[in-house]
Amino acid sequence: MEERPRVLSGARPTGRLHLGHLWGVLANWKKLQETYACYFFIADWHALTEDPRKSLEFRTLIEEIVMDWLTAGVDPDRAVLFVQSWVPEHVELHMVFSMLVHLSRLLRMPTLKEHVASLRTEEFRGTRKGELDRATREAVQHVLQRYPDLVEHPDRQSILTAEAKQIFLQTLKDAVEDEEEELSYGHLVSYGRLGYPVLQSADVLLYRPRFVPVGEDQLSHLELTREIARRFNRTYKTRVFPIPKPLLTDFPKVPGTDGRKMSKSYGNTILIGEDRETLEKKIRRMYTDPQKIRKTDPGRPEICPVFQLHRMVTPEGEQQTIAEDCRAGALGCVVCKGMLAERMEAFMAPLRERRLALERERDTVWDRLREGTRKARALAQETMRQVRAAMGMPEPPA
Ligand code: TRP
Repeated sequence: MEERPRVLSGARPTGRLHLGHLWGVLANWKKLQETYACYFFIADWHALTEDPRKSLEFRTLIEEIVMDWLTAGVDPDRAVLFVQSWVPEHVELHMVFSMLVHLSRLLRMPTLKEHVASLRTEEFRGTRKGELDRATREAVQHVLQRYPDLVEHPDRQSILTAEAKQIFLQTLKDAVEDEEEELSYGHLVSYGRLGYPVLQSADVLLYRPRFVPVGEDQLSHLELTREIARRFNRTYKTRVFPIPKPLLTDFPKVPGTDGRKMSKSYGNTILIGEDRETLEKKIRRMYTDPQKIRKTDPGRPEICPVFQLHRMVTPEGEQQTIAEDCRAGALGCVVCKGMLAERMEAFMAPLRERRLALERERDTVWDRLREGTRKARALAQETMRQVRAAMGMPEPPA
């Protein structure tokens, strides 16, 4: 078996990846595969927690994400690439772990709280529309009565906000007090969604890795994973599970075309292998410094998303000239975007080509995944043998 320390990470298949993934997650994976025995997997079970019908799209979604990984340089000859649901041991270990976590621990997970908060707000908007409308009317009426000259009032903004807030909160409280269920949001969250971080703990510990590269948003899940590892070891007086460490790498913050963080949900992404025409169009429509209206206005490269992308694909000398000329009002945004489009196209062309080549070799891509899954499964089975032994369970037939 492999001697290098192991690294494990996974991603839900949610559609084509973009430059945020490329320069964040994937650049890091590419580096890690040089040093560690890397296991990277597609968390298809986890994707089901969003919508149980997601499975109907898995053929496409899995193919897309693995092609993006390969395009980015994640190498199936160095790293083990596999599909979570093809290794049934994930589900088995999840069952064992589910007995080692209290319900209250899962209910306190910050990721669950956020999820519930957004579902509840959505629900509230739908089912409590009448109350919400009434509360809004009441707030406005109330304020207008108390401050008949509100339009002219210098503090009108804060007065309105404060009054509206109070009335909304009362409405919300009334709505919540009506509820008789023990867990007032229980009808919004599936049993499987509650167990999301437990399944994730099984994903990790099945491969007994030293490191788990994850984003900041996943740290709470990793903390739970570490707790579960300790609890298993303590409960069964064993050392089956080493305690894994998160690996937080600080990567460049990649802005989307509108200057916010590049993210599918904002619709501001540039895809890995984006076609030339779309790429140009997306760059042409990018946001720039709002204070630079005419070419001759002095611009602020440090807050301009176009310049942030120049930093990723344009040679340093040219970057400096661009920044200086922008600040001096000698370079207009249209020309600056044209330069970016050219640099970006030069960067993107080989990626696009590689991806198109992979699209012509779909069968090979799936073969690589099947191969990786066989390797991953051998390790997963070995862990489960140790788990059953530590638990004192009888061995199943071969
Ligand atoms: N929850 C992770 C995410 O949304 C995906 C994931 C599932 C994962 N299992 C994992 C990441 C195990 C690292 C290790 O990004």
